[in-house]
Amino acid sequence: MKYDPIYYGDYLRLDKLLGAQEPVSEKHNKPAHDETLFIIIHQAYELWFKQILHEVDSVHKLFSNEKMDPRDLSVIVHRLNRVTEIQRILNDQINVMETMGPLDFMEFRDYLVPASGFQSIQFRMIELKLGLRQEFRLQMAKEFFNSRLKEEDKNKMNKLEEETTLLELIDAWLTRMPFGKSENYNFWEQYRLAVDEMIGQDKKIIESNRTLHPKQVEMELRNLDATKQTFDILFDDDRYNALKEEGKVRISREAKLSAIFIRLYAEEPILQLPNNLLDSLIGIDELFTTWRYRHAIMVHRMLGTKIGTGGSSGHDYLKKSTERNRVFTDFFDMATYLIPREHMPKLPDEERKKLGFVYGD
Ligand code: HEM
Repeated sequence: MKYDPIYYGDYLRLDKLLGAQEPVSEKHNKPAHDETLFIIIHQAYELWFKQILHEVDSVHKLFSNEKMDPRDLSVIVHRLNRVTEIQRILNDQINVMETMGPLDFMEFRDYLVPASGFQSIQFRMIELKLGLRQEFRLQMAKEFFNSRLKEEDKNKMNKLEEETTLLELIDAWLTRMPFGKSENYNFWEQYRLAVDEMIGQDKKIIESNRTLHPKQVEMELRNLDATKQTFDILFDDDRYNALKEEGKVRISREAKLSAIFIRLYAEEPILQLPNNLLDSLIGIDELFTTWRYRHAIMVHRMLGTKIGTGGSSGHDYLKKSTERNRVFTDFFDMATYLIPREHMPKLPDEERKKLGFVYGD
């Protein structure tokens, strides 16, 4: 044989892995049956977090090149889709956790203070590497985290805050995209005309609707004007940047336009993978949000309104973080800017050709 033989248990370091469950309740001579489950579930999460970081780090690396090789895009999408598959497992694991009841948990909970999920460094690393910077997250959490971390973990997290996030890398990549900006053709002029046409039609529908009370007509026209403003901001640097300052949008205006173009013409051959990439990012955010929500509900069931071992308000804090701690909201918002196919500008042949797989003439 060319290689040294390997033994299953040695390869997987099962001595370490299976020897790493030490219920604290046993140390206090009050063994709590469910503590083993509690430990194993958390350890399984941390193992999957490690795998997610492995995938996210590799995607970071591929995106970090000033000129990303387009051939890498399929690997990137594949790895991000692997992340979403892992997330589905993470979400399902909550069901197993919920087989432990509040009284079972109470048998060992007090021994755990002040340890808390707040101290899951890998979870924080995933959030941050994806793009959840301090300024975007629920503010009340900041002092909780930092005061509860060991000095070395605190330094690690502060250092990571200085690194570029995946959201920023994708922002730069989308900003560099050349679509809709060729010399002889300005797609965005056509797009604005199409939007005006769509809004004009909606206005006529509202005004001619005899079933509406004049006050309702007024309100609907006001809402329609707000929709128009949203489109206008896309073409107004100052107003767009003001929204960015407020944290209401996170990517550049140019990046947003590229993403809209990708979404509108997703079936064009060279836009298919970029479109899949946007779907993967949306999927990751949706599955993390689902996890946060399921975890918050589980905590409500387990603790009621008691505070957490990490000192937060428990369920209440977690519920709020569900809505707030999102990363790729810009790509969710994309649907706002889509217009019905019938209104979409027809691309000139020259432009379509650039988006296809053309071999010869
Ligand atoms: C009995 C089960 C669980 C309870 C009662 C519980 C409770 C809590 C509470 C109250 C918090 C808020 C921080 C605090 O004040 O301590 C929290 C945060 C957290 N927990 Fe759990 N948890 C449970 C299971 C899990 C599991 C299985 C994981 C998997 C890793 C987990 C991961 C986290 C994370 C990452 C946070 C920080 C979330 C954030 O700040 O956005 N928890 N947990």
